[in-house]
Amino acid sequence: MRAVAVADFGAEPEVMDLPEPVPGPGEFLVHLRAAGVNPFDWKVAEGLLRRAVHHAFPLILGSDGAGTVHSVGGGVSAFRPGDRVYGQFLRLPQGLGSYSEYALATEEDAVARMPDGMLFTQAAAVPTATMTAYGLVEAAGVDAGQKVLVVGATGGVGQSVVQFARDRGAAVAATAAGAEAEEWMRHLGASAVLDHTRGPIVERLLELCPDGVHTVIDLVQDAEGVASLLPAVHRPGGTVASTQGAVDTGGLAERGLTGINYSNRGSARLLAVLADLIDAGRLQVRIDHEADLADAPSALTRLRSGGARGKTVLRI
Ligand SMILES: NC(=O)c1ccc[n+]([C@@H]2O[C@H](COP(=O)([O-])OP(=O)(O)OC[C@H]3O[C@@H](n4cnc5c(N)ncnc54)[C@H](OP(=O)(O)O)[C@@H]3O)[C@@H](O)[C@H]2O)c1
Repeated sequence: MRAVAVADFGAEPEVMDLPEPVPGPGEFLVHLRAAGVNPFDWKVAEGLLRRAVHHAFPLILGSDGAGTVHSVGGGVSAFRPGDRVYGQFLRLPQGLGSYSEYALATEEDAVARMPDGMLFTQAAAVPTATMTAYGLVEAAGVDAGQKVLVVGATGGVGQSVVQFARDRGAAVAATAAGAEAEEWMRHLGASAVLDHTRGPIVERLLELCPDGVHTVIDLVQDAEGVASLLPAVHRPGGTVASTQGAVDTGGLAERGLTGINYSNRGSARLLAVLADLIDAGRLQVRIDHEADLADAPSALTRLRSGGARGKTVLRI
């Protein structure tokens, strides 16, 4: 089967011809038709998790995917051949991922049925980014009447954070560079938009929201960047959440703030919830860039260079 993989940590991703996996007991094989691209994918290729888990090489990149169930091993009852499914397919110890024609999963994995009307590319754009967004908004306790700042709002995760926070009745301030991105953020429900390329975010935020915000959800900045926002967070009682491990939780607690270094945990149950929200038109997941599987290396480079306005997906 065709796949895009790396030969070792830090190696360039390449198109390879690799053996098709065979489902064992409790496993099913999915014929993938699309893969979602996440910053996590290149971080894994560079060795983000090398101390935490064994990696087999060549390592097929990618977690997110969508396709049809091709065959099932013994004991699998929730899925049948032909079912359209989407979810997370990364198996580092076996070197398997979603930038591939076939991937394995079990019923315990974050894999669920796709709604009938959804395209494979659309479904592949959802799993990691949108589950992270959902979990972040829940973990931060975003509630009606609060003001929430989303930093990194125009990327794969941010676009859904903005919508989930708005749905909970919060007033959302979103970062966005440029007029088109600003218009998009307003369309998704942001009531204030600030351009992070035009000076310190905290200054612009305090101009727009002189009373500050209750919650910050920061998807991109380092510890220094996150700390620079603290003068604009309500104290006591405010919350600051990061996907970069950039929050000093102890330091924040001393200042009467809640700090969260968020780590996503996907589930089939949450994927089913998200599929229903998308099907009902209550959640939009915009695709910024589509490419063929063979162009995965350049799609990764493109995403890595910044400027995402939604998700990147690969057609398989
Ligand atoms: N901890 C977890 O469980 C978890 C889960 C999912 C994702 N993540 C991480 O979260 C981060 C975001 O993921 P993603 O998929 O949303 O990435 P993405 O699609 O690349 O989006 C990043 C967005 O942030 C914007 N941006 C970059 N620098 C900025 C800044 N200084 N201020 C404001 N906006 C800025 C970018 O636009 P411009 O370049 O135009 O500014 C882009 O729209 C990644 O580092 C990812 O690895 C962590």
